[in-house]
Amino acid sequence: MITGLDHVAIAVADLEAAIARFAEDFGVPLSGREDVPSEQTSTAFFPMPGTRIELIHPMNGEGPVAASLAKRGEGVHHLCFRTDDIEADMARLKEKGYRFLSDAPRPGAHGTRVVFIHPKSAGGVLIELAEHPEEGA
Ligand code: CO
Repeated sequence: MITGLDHVAIAVADLEAAIARFAEDFGVPLSGREDVPSEQTSTAFFPMPGTRIELIHPMNGEGPVAASLAKRGEGVHHLCFRTDDIEADMARLKEKGYRFLSDAPRPGAHGTRVVFIHPKSAGGVLIELAEHPEEGA
């Protein structure tokens, strides 16, 4: 079951400049940074009540965020729904015709398991599902 908006991810070309924008200009405190090698992505987190903004940047200049920056430039990249049972939500949505970018959940930031719904099957929006370890079924 989808239980909330986990985060909104923004692809940025210059991670340090983007961190400064959110932390200093917008005054939203940076809570942490994490590299996610499985996605070749460096991330920085800005929690807000009930959710967080997540800046994403290519690790070592490669990977899916590098491809996205080259194709579409900077901007909102995906939104992520929190789920309490990722396999059940995948099965339910697959039955309704949604396509996924991988056949099974993969390791995400914060010890989550994540999977992405193809934007072509979701009205042009890239949607991630994330199950946090403490909420797993
Ligand atoms: Co995400």
